[in-house]
Amino acid sequence: MVSRAELFRSCVSDLELYGADSAQFDTLCIFQDMLGDKNPLFKPAEPVPPDIEARIRDLVHARTQGQPLQYLLGKWEFFGYPFFVGSGVLIPRPDTEILIEQVLDICKAQYSGAPRIADLCSGSGCIAVTLKNLLPHADVCAVEISDTAIGFIQKNAQLNHADIRIVKGDVLSVQTADVLGSFDIIVSNPPYLSQQDMDSLQAEVRCEPSLALFGGQDGLDFYRAMTPLWKNHLNPNGWLCYEYGLGQHDDVKSILAGNGFQNITLRRDLAGIIRTAAAQITEVI
Ligand SMILES: C[S@@+](CC[C@H](N)C(=O)[O-])C[C@H]1O[C@@H](n2cnc3c(N)ncnc32)[C@H](O)[C@@H]1O
Repeated sequence: MVSRAELFRSCVSDLELYGADSAQFDTLCIFQDMLGDKNPLFKPAEPVPPDIEARIRDLVHARTQGQPLQYLLGKWEFFGYPFFVGSGVLIPRPDTEILIEQVLDICKAQYSGAPRIADLCSGSGCIAVTLKNLLPHADVCAVEISDTAIGFIQKNAQLNHADIRIVKGDVLSVQTADVLGSFDIIVSNPPYLSQQDMDSLQAEVRCEPSLALFGGQDGLDFYRAMTPLWKNHLNPNGWLCYEYGLGQHDDVKSILAGNGFQNITLRRDLAGIIRTAAAQITEVI
């Protein structure tokens, strides 16, 4: 039987040949998952049973074909919580954790009770489920148009014991908004890639659904349409919180300001990119 160390070296070298710049990390994640061991290399001489070796090699092979690591593992962590992921749903990104922090800060400052929160364009449900985990008294609703994503939200809510409301609907439709009522905080990470971004996507990102990525010619379609629609569904002094892409902060800020939002606060992600905005509606509608 091959040892863990030998198999590890062989897998890293296969991935490097394919050109993965994260060959060691990817192999480590696959080993952790397949061997059920957080530190698989603490026992380098341990033999790997042939059936597990075959499964590890299959995953490494799929990775060399451009499949995202997260889809191959079927689960990924967001804000320290586990989420099922797979074909048809956006993989939760660390950038989005900034949006969670911004909502938490608003809740700490303004909502000691049970805020009503809507997560529009919910995808895997990572935002809605995480907020419910961290704010157990909040009334959290996840809205999503894709049936596949809705399936993932249901599984992820169950996995995390998060009692959230899951609604299939189009966030650009007045009917969806009217059915849902009003909220203290509306949070969204909508599709925001421009046509130019879509034309130059990395191979792995191309495996993710374009419904989750494409935000129109300049990437801003959702912000233009959602802001005037959903501002009518915010309670007085309520907040609209958005994630957006690299270089979109000025445009998103002016869309928010143009719709009467105030106290607009932008935040940077860990890479220093201005990534999120929180904006308050102070007028009584
Ligand atoms: C960028 S992903 C965000 C997913 C998740 N919130 C996250 O942060 O990982 C955008 C999501 O919006 C959904 N979506 C696209 N158009 C929509 C629409 N008109 N109404 C509701 N959801 C939509 C996509 O299916 C996708 O799941």
